[in-house]
Amino acid sequence: MSAPEEQRAPTQQREQPRRVTTLRLRQMKQQGQKIVCLTAYDALMARIFDEAGVDIILVGDSLGNVFQGHETTIPVTLEEMIYHTKAVVRGVRRAMVVTDMPFMSYQVSVEEAFRNAGRIMKEAGAGAVKLEGGERVVEAVARMTAAGIPVMGHLGLTPQSIHQFGSYRVRGTDPKEAEQILRDAKLLEEAGAFAIVLEKIPAELARKVTESLSIPTIGIGAGVYCDGQVLVYTDLLGLTVDFRPRFVRQYERLYERILQAVSQFADDVRAQRFPSEEESY
Ligand code: KIV
Repeated sequence: MSAPEEQRAPTQQREQPRRVTTLRLRQMKQQGQKIVCLTAYDALMARIFDEAGVDIILVGDSLGNVFQGHETTIPVTLEEMIYHTKAVVRGVRRAMVVTDMPFMSYQVSVEEAFRNAGRIMKEAGAGAVKLEGGERVVEAVARMTAAGIPVMGHLGLTPQSIHQFGSYRVRGTDPKEAEQILRDAKLLEEAGAFAIVLEKIPAELARKVTESLSIPTIGIGAGVYCDGQVLVYTDLLGLTVDFRPRFVRQYERLYERILQAVSQFADDVRAQRFPSEEESY
């Protein structure tokens, strides 16, 4: 049931807490405080996650899967990322908002990557950008960080390369691949990245990477030794029912609960139990 109009606090009445910054995230790593990160694609969810104390809200290109219904993140466009980031930014007071650079928005040239990262910061109001890959993106990362654009890296399973990899298997299980991930992480740190997402790699490799960097690592399917954890919020809340990898912990079963609530509403409308006299003027 929606709250009475007089109980709804207008956005501008909320207090302005201190923003999470790249400096604060680095301090959290140094102090052993775990960083909490969650995806969001709209103002409503972003506001709830911010209020719950989430440190980083990631406008992930996973919106291609969970919001747009695509099979991969590849079709997501820069304009769409900007649109969703604008909405998320409006819902957030404290968390750092990080926006994924979508496929082909940073691969063509360093100049184009730089310009597109600038658009995400300037037009959408993000606090940072995230891009996938190691060695092949460090030049672009260095260009962005030199201009004051905070960059988050993403190593291990990088969903934008799904057609090259051919599967969503765990990365870094063989020594050569593990070495490459470690090397990439160090290169990203040298290029000025402020944090790195490690996706679907063995926990021991994630520990090694985490211990070798002064910037925080944020894990997804990368074990407990990372400096923080991220999940796609629809997985955490049980909204995605046909995708349940081992690294997801479901804290709710919203798909079923929403299904039940909406079915109840439909029944009430059809049986003329809604609206009641009290719900009418
Ligand atoms: O797009 C996304 O949601 C992500 C997370 C899975 C880290 O990149």
